[in-house]
Amino acid sequence: MTKKLKKQKSAVRAAITGVHGYVPPDVLTNAELARMVDTSDQWIVERTGIKERHILKGRGLGTSHMGAEAVRGLLKKTGTAPGEVDLLICATTTPDFVFPSTANLICDMSGIHGIGSFDVQAACSGFVYALTIAAQFIEVGTYRKIVVVGADKMSSIIDYTDRATCVLFGDGAGAVLIEPHRQYGIIDTLIASDGAGMKHLHQKAGGSRMPPTAETVAKRLHYVHQEGAAVYKFAVARMAEVATELMKRNRLSKNTVDWLVPHQANIRIIEATAERIGLPLQRVMVTIHKYGNTTAATIPLCLWDYEKRLKAGDRLLLAAFGGGFTWGGVYLTWAYDTERSEDKAGEKDHPKGGGRGLAGRLASTLRAPFATLVPFLSPLQRWE
Ligand code: ACO
Repeated sequence: MTKKLKKQKSAVRAAITGVHGYVPPDVLTNAELARMVDTSDQWIVERTGIKERHILKGRGLGTSHMGAEAVRGLLKKTGTAPGEVDLLICATTTPDFVFPSTANLICDMSGIHGIGSFDVQAACSGFVYALTIAAQFIEVGTYRKIVVVGADKMSSIIDYTDRATCVLFGDGAGAVLIEPHRQYGIIDTLIASDGAGMKHLHQKAGGSRMPPTAETVAKRLHYVHQEGAAVYKFAVARMAEVATELMKRNRLSKNTVDWLVPHQANIRIIEATAERIGLPLQRVMVTIHKYGNTTAATIPLCLWDYEKRLKAGDRLLLAAFGGGFTWGGVYLTWAYDTERSEDKAGEKDHPKGGGRGLAGRLASTLRAPFATLVPFLSPLQRWE
């Protein structure tokens, strides 16, 4: 099912050298949903693992608002000036407009001007697709600093009278900085799709095939249509397939993968994927209980959440599946130890207590590119 095209080796790797996330402050709990539709906290937790999700409220705020929050936080924490960014890619299924792209808007809102920026649309696999594209530009030496964003305001296309979909999704954004690295970074990527899956998961109206009319709105055709059980079956099979293929061709075993970073659609899909590749759940990143399915944002939000637990050299396997159908994976080695600690509101940076010792820090410092040294500078040196 997945065409096996192996990535060519490159002397320079594209490494993630910083990550930041944003979830809006308003929380929608299962209890609140149970007051809106015929559902219960027990059903939602048992069938999906979701306890709550964040919803972006506020007139005139779209996906770009969350993307820009994540990007501004990322630039601040990595000490990157907006003018240093060479390219910005945004993966999203809920762009602010049909045009201009959400990436264009995020650049403007983050003080980034005059660079290439564009959106990638691959539903829940969007971040993996965007990361794959960014890696090519770094490896051939075209660019040195690329920002990849995954952001979605799923609440804008969810029917809150449809219990089968409204319990699943949330809003959020995550962003990573990608830079060249001699030792660590993206080693292998795999992206795939099957347009025949469209019938199981799509939004019927609002595109060029069925532009918006009073009738399409009245018939509630601008919302996510999902045949949950069919999508579930494909999701489990493809997520496991992509993870297995990346492990096989990179000679990884269940003992040498440090972290599985799966798209967060349903805890049962995550557990089934982990089980098929033999990985214990302690080495699987899970955020679905608090964010729900944020589509293109789930994987960068996982990285943001687990950042402080990651060490330079950790082997990460990213795996995603989504509408299209689309699926894909990335095998990478993590490029830095996190010696910084920022609160999740992204307000201030202060040194992390109980981190690695000086020897470990020096070792990382000696092999790191400039951007990874930035955390060791004082907050004032980092951002003026
Ligand atoms: N509360 C209570 N009952 C519900 C709810 C709810 N919120 N939703 C559905 N039900 C009912 C159904 O009506 C059905 O009742 P019936 O048997 O009387 O007809 C019963 O529960 C079972 O429904 P299923 O759809 O078979 O439930 P399932 O166990 O498959 O879980 C779910 C549904 C959670 C949607 C699951 O199928 C799933 O996770 N699918 C995959 C989602 C996914 O991976 N999407 C891809 C990414 S999204 C993107 O790309 C945009």
